[in-house]
Amino acid sequence: MTETDFIFNNINLSNITNGSITWKTPSNIALVKYWGKREPQIPENASISFTLDSCFTLTTLEYKKLNTERSEGSHDNTRVAERSRSHNFEIYFEGEKKDEFKPKITTFFKRIEKYVPFLKDFDFIIKSQNSFPHSSGIASSASGMGALALCIMSLERSLSGVEMTDEYFNRKASFLARLGSGSACRSIEGPLIVWGNHPEIEGSSDLFGVKFPYKIHENFKNYHDTILLVDEGEKQVSSTVGHQLMYNHPLAKQRFQQANNNISRISKVLQNGDLKAFVEIVESEALTLHAMMMTSNPYFILMKPNTLKIINEIWGFRAQTNSNICFTLDAGANVHVLFPESEKEIVNDFIKSNLMQFCQENHYICDSIGKGANQLLINS
Ligand code: PMV
Repeated sequence: MTETDFIFNNINLSNITNGSITWKTPSNIALVKYWGKREPQIPENASISFTLDSCFTLTTLEYKKLNTERSEGSHDNTRVAERSRSHNFEIYFEGEKKDEFKPKITTFFKRIEKYVPFLKDFDFIIKSQNSFPHSSGIASSASGMGALALCIMSLERSLSGVEMTDEYFNRKASFLARLGSGSACRSIEGPLIVWGNHPEIEGSSDLFGVKFPYKIHENFKNYHDTILLVDEGEKQVSSTVGHQLMYNHPLAKQRFQQANNNISRISKVLQNGDLKAFVEIVESEALTLHAMMMTSNPYFILMKPNTLKIINEIWGFRAQTNSNICFTLDAGANVHVLFPESEKEIVNDFIKSNLMQFCQENHYICDSIGKGANQLLINS
């Protein structure tokens, strides 16, 4: 599929006036990381993630058609008499009006308007909330942009004069979400999503995320991710800046090659169930992501002393027990502790006895691998 396949032009505004759409959309955690991109939000290497379950954003999009005169079946601007020139919306987060979120959404709307030109025909109220604390340091852009993209796709489906397959719906939702925040394109479906064109992953694309297309070994069913909240503050360096620093990074080329090799390796591991190899790839990916940050210009460190203490505890526990527990990191100090379902009792006890003390106010979130987003309600 190419970008032009996502341009919408079968509009039928006559049967729609106002209504609301709600989507619950999970966060995701990358196993092989995306760090480095080019315009327009094209990843420099393929990445793969577990879709989460308990960490999600709930977004309601209320829409009201503007009083515009337009001809159906066309989006020719010259034929639209009173169409709004700007995007009209208000945004509320956890019940409070948040004007400071508007620039990010405006940029998103501008990036996607070519593909969803009907946006300017509506007044929107966006109401969003997260299942995880806002200040937890968990990035909400993946679940937030994913949820908004899905709401927009539900509206497109109602406006569409033709039948839309679920496959197209999900692809385009992922495509739109990607233009909001790269990793958001991996939050639409689950349990394992690949984003970025890779010769060994059938159907993979730089434009949207696809479900891992091969049979996943039993060992990875219901995998757990307990998120240890080491630093609940705002990120010191945004991922936008981090991605930019990969442009002139002396190790960038090797890094992109390494990530693509790791996709080949992890693809086999996910099919053959080799947990030891899984641990090795996932931890190496997490540390390499942070090594890229530490070796960029300017350099920076997002890990905190407690991040390292947790990593050392995990390594000690693994050496003692032969457990398959491992960690991964996002662009922050929090630690995602990954482990198979069969080890949940012993690992949960270990987290309580040895790791919880390194979390801010002992806060951590127990999550596991999920199936993707759900629409909750539609009134139109
Ligand atoms: O989606 P962005 O632009 O916030 O980038 C996210 C990058 C990482 O979370 C660090 C890695 C990844 O693949 O999710």
